[in-house]
Amino acid sequence: MSDHPERKYRTDYRAPDHQIEHADLAFEIDSADTRVTARYQVSQADEARRDDLWLDGHQMTLESIAIDGEAVSDARYAVHDEGLWVFDLPRRCELELVVRIDPSANTALEGLYQSGSVLCTQCEATGFSRIVYFPDRPDVMTRFTTRVTADAAVYPVLLAGGDRASHQRHEDGRHTAVFIDPWPKPCYLFALVAGDLAEITDSYRTNTGHDVELAFYTEHGAEDQCNHAIASLKQAMAWDEATYGLTCDLNRYSVVAVDSFNMGAMENKGLNVFNTACVLARADTATDADFARVRDVVAHEYFHNYTGNRVTCRDWFQLSLKEGLTVFREHQFAADQGSPGVARIQQVRTIRDLQFPEDDGPHAHPVRPESYVEMNNFYTVTVYEKGAELIRMMASIAGREAFNQAVRFYLDKHDGRAVTIEDFVVAIEEATGLDLAQFRAWYAYAGTPTVSVRPSYDNGQLTLELEQSVPATPDQANKPPFDIPIELAFFATDADSEASSSTLRRLTHAHETWRFEGFDAEPTVSLLRGMSAPVRLDHPRDDATLAHLARVDTDPVSRWDALQTLFLNQLSVDVDALKAGGSAGEPSAVLVETVAAILEAPPADHALAAEMLTLPSTARIGDATAPIDPIAVAKARRNLKQQLSQQLRANFETILADFAPAEAYAFNAEAAGRRHLFATALDYYTATSDGDALERALAVFYAADNQTDRMAALSALNDHSSPQRQRALADFAARFADYPLVMDKYRALQAGARRDDSIQHVRALLADPALDNTNPNRIRSILSGFARGNPEGFHCADGSGYQLLGDEIERLDTINPQLAAALAGLLAPWRRYAEPYAGGMRAQLERLAEIRLSDNSAEIVQTALAS
Ligand code: TRP
Ligand code: ZN
Repeated sequence: MSDHPERKYRTDYRAPDHQIEHADLAFEIDSADTRVTARYQVSQADEARRDDLWLDGHQMTLESIAIDGEAVSDARYAVHDEGLWVFDLPRRCELELVVRIDPSANTALEGLYQSGSVLCTQCEATGFSRIVYFPDRPDVMTRFTTRVTADAAVYPVLLAGGDRASHQRHEDGRHTAVFIDPWPKPCYLFALVAGDLAEITDSYRTNTGHDVELAFYTEHGAEDQCNHAIASLKQAMAWDEATYGLTCDLNRYSVVAVDSFNMGAMENKGLNVFNTACVLARADTATDADFARVRDVVAHEYFHNYTGNRVTCRDWFQLSLKEGLTVFREHQFAADQGSPGVARIQQVRTIRDLQFPEDDGPHAHPVRPESYVEMNNFYTVTVYEKGAELIRMMASIAGREAFNQAVRFYLDKHDGRAVTIEDFVVAIEEATGLDLAQFRAWYAYAGTPTVSVRPSYDNGQLTLELEQSVPATPDQANKPPFDIPIELAFFATDADSEASSSTLRRLTHAHETWRFEGFDAEPTVSLLRGMSAPVRLDHPRDDATLAHLARVDTDPVSRWDALQTLFLNQLSVDVDALKAGGSAGEPSAVLVETVAAILEAPPADHALAAEMLTLPSTARIGDATAPIDPIAVAKARRNLKQQLSQQLRANFETILADFAPAEAYAFNAEAAGRRHLFATALDYYTATSDGDALERALAVFYAADNQTDRMAALSALNDHSSPQRQRALADFAARFADYPLVMDKYRALQAGARRDDSIQHVRALLADPALDNTNPNRIRSILSGFARGNPEGFHCADGSGYQLLGDEIERLDTINPQLAAALAGLLAPWRRYAEPYAGGMRAQLERLAEIRLSDNSAEIVQTALAS
């Protein structure tokens, strides 16, 4: 928190004047008063511009400072709020510092902090400078030795990155462990853990015959919830060997699960720290979606060991260098787990439902941002998911195999260094021979391009007129045309025939005309297959064409998208009617017939059937009907579900019978697909609040042997205030009272339930004395359950839903600025909303702007108000 937070600019980058070649850190652990002794081997760069060394550091007390073993005079250094200057350093020297910090008072969850009784670190992006004075920037790469001393009774487990070199017990009941990390690394990858944790070990033999010890740590009693994460890690290790030829370079790979954590997980070299939500999974506590998330996050962090750790970022503007590439690798991995089409649909949904709105709002920024106040505000869907889409486009232009080889070339070329996105693109060009000059615009400009396509047909020839445009975004008005890969295929319109083979073409000009010859009759065009580029497609097609593609398209994404567009066309008409004070009508006959056809003959991939039948999210409907009227959106969506439920009741009954849970739970693509289709049908079936349907859901709830079916039943019941809902909720709460992560689901449902007293109800959930209302998982489950799951409550016209959120942002901002800023992001896109919603959201932002906020929240609030 500062009066004039500094804005940092990408183009201001300067190489560091000094490197810390080696850091010897000694921690004397005490939850309220930890002493850190640091000994640095400092060397000055040849091109250095000054002999003074800047070390970042906050919220610590400097106890002593010495150069080459001698205490220095006061004139030799200066302590500031944000760090420490040491003046006039010799070209090479040893700098020794002793500081004291208070982990128990650190509620921000960065630096060294306490989660329950465990002490752990989170250093990305700049948390290391809350531990000890250090040049906290990723282009300073250091070999770390870490010595940890703590009371053996309270902290029997001591861990740090690297190999454990020694362990010693002392007579006073303390013990010391020393870790040596042979790999030079930026300080954001430093990690340390001390606590009373259960250890589960396993091992993995690499393709080179090396045994890597795997160790998972969690609270006692949760050991049997780690098996899936361990299996996933081994799967990821084998996959990276097979796909990229990357072999684990560690002797030991540890994963620690902690309760209080700001995000999903952190890839610290050899010692990952995870949110428990991304490790723990057992059939009765975790849904299929949770199992998939654990698998993918475990893989993501493992993949960082090369893309991020072996080759890291020069500065934080390059964040997507490691995150975009690692998310892309995670996506490739996920696609190889059984259903590539459905994995891709889920990625597409994230881009459309979350990234497009971000690109359209006040916080729009390029994948490689130009400036920031608080780096933590830039761990966004744009940097992560759009960043992954950019990699994916390069991969499809180059061809998968050639691209994977090029990534290998990049990793070899820059091994052990801190580099830029430009270095990556150059390496890809060198390895593939591609010219990516124009492609680079994707990294430089924010905003989602729109591609408009107008077809015409004449005498065997199909003509596509294509036009692209990229909207203005904050600080960026005029943008050059992008290099947009568009995959397309043609289908004969009257027959259920095979597609022409799919081809990839690049749209590189503002306008282009593409001609295709040799048709017997006008074909149906399937465009942007697999979502070949993160663009909005403006390609008007009538309902009959969409219905045709929903049946015959061979690309799962396009097939799904055809039905989604058909839904969306209906929903847009309904939303418009509701906005004008009318009511939502009956769905078109074509739509009902198409849904019936899917229900009668679901695709062999049952998860695809489920995805197809799921109505577009409220986010997507809102995006398509801006300015957003969230109440109209919610009503239209609910109405359509009820209409389909009534008209196709027998079809849904057939699905419920055919896909009823039969076998014991196992997590695999086939079984998860069946469960997903069953859950989707149950959700429709109960949509009309019919008593028999609710009884049916309650029976599913009681019969369930796993969390997936149980949650399917509970969410189907959730919007119907009924005795069945009450019974199921009470049973659930009693059964899972001791499982905080499962209770998060329960609270998310409660906060998301439609009821007249939503605001009071959510306030009561937050005020529950048994709830740790500073734990991010607890807060997020309630507040995003409310803001995203309960439009009628959150957006209620008197603004009381926004006020509830504003109150929580204010409360949390002094406790955990990262969390508060993320919540403020829910109010930020006020301009995309219709009145009275826009005004109500804005009023909360204005009220927050009046109080003294953290830099994190202030940046979000001010950017939003300036929009
Ligand atoms: N690098 C982490 C990942 O994507 C994410 C991360 C960044 C993070 N900052 C964090 C995690 C702070 C927890 C807390 O894998
Ligand atoms: Zn990551």
